[in-house]
Amino acid sequence: MIDKNMKITVAGSGTMGTQIAMQVALNGYSVKLYDMSEKALAKANAFANEWCDKKIAKGKMNENEKEEFLSRLMFTDDIKLAAEAADIVIEAIIDVVSAKKTFLKEIDQYTPENAIYASNSSYIVSSRFADAVEHPENVLNTHFFNPALVMKLVEIVKGDHVSDKVIDTMFEFISSIGKEPVLIKKEIYGFVVNRIFSAMTKEACYLVDMGIASVEDIDKAVKLGLGHSMGPLEILDMTGIDLEYDVLMDKFRMTGDPADRPSTALVERYAKGEYGRKSKKGFYDYE
Ligand SMILES: NC(=O)c1ccc[n+]([C@@H]2O[C@H](COP(=O)([O-])OP(=O)(O)OC[C@H]3O[C@@H](n4cnc5c(N)ncnc54)[C@H](O)[C@@H]3O)[C@@H](O)[C@H]2O)c1
Repeated sequence: MIDKNMKITVAGSGTMGTQIAMQVALNGYSVKLYDMSEKALAKANAFANEWCDKKIAKGKMNENEKEEFLSRLMFTDDIKLAAEAADIVIEAIIDVVSAKKTFLKEIDQYTPENAIYASNSSYIVSSRFADAVEHPENVLNTHFFNPALVMKLVEIVKGDHVSDKVIDTMFEFISSIGKEPVLIKKEIYGFVVNRIFSAMTKEACYLVDMGIASVEDIDKAVKLGLGHSMGPLEILDMTGIDLEYDVLMDKFRMTGDPADRPSTALVERYAKGEYGRKSKKGFYDYE
């Protein structure tokens, strides 16, 4: 049973973790946002403050509400403190299996016996890292979408190793923070949304590689021709070209299929550190 006294920890204070932690705190829970990088935590803290100030300027929040919200959001680089008393740990660190395993193994030493580990991975199914903890039946995927403060959907994935109780608890929890969960009944690489989205971005990058149309025109064609609100290349800039590269390389290493290799358009930008909005340059220029 879910109640608002439950203690939530979010690990990884990057693009996703910051907004997931904020969403949880906005819905009345106490949240610890953990990252191993002090710089990332400072950035997350600044983002939360600026977000509140924008709401206040629009008359959608007052100073008391801001203070109350921020009092429920703790920032820490101490994994022991982050783990202490956590009922649910939402993991939003980099999308690399070995990193997720190392992190889970470490935090599992300090969390209570029945803690649930919910990975926000965009593609990697939890059975690939669930054995890092003592109770793999408590490890699952709960996939939020970017920006997590805005996007309603969360994919909850029932791998064979996950207990029914954990699935039920996470359905209740996700609903309690104002999101809409959908059940993915079996593990599959990329779940539902990203499998469909990947087919589209792969084709868009191929069209860039082939010089078939400009970046702008590919996005314009998808928006006007398919009625999408954003083009695939705009979305890649928003979600991160580095993330897309890691994901495709992980798949390529698994399959060895040259068709799974990241496209030239992605590799070139990745090599130059042009990761999209977060580095001010990707398919588009944000300076
Ligand atoms: N970016 C998106 O659009 C998006 C959407 C849905 C899901 N996801 C998933 O969310 C997760 C995070 O993605 P992101 O885009 O927020 O990444 P990000 O690079 O913005 O942030 C990752 C954060 O994790 C921290 N970190 C890395 N290793 C760590 C460790 N061992 N312990 C603690 N902190 C650590 C980094 O310092 C960084 O601040 C990934 O699994 C990704 O697949 C991303």
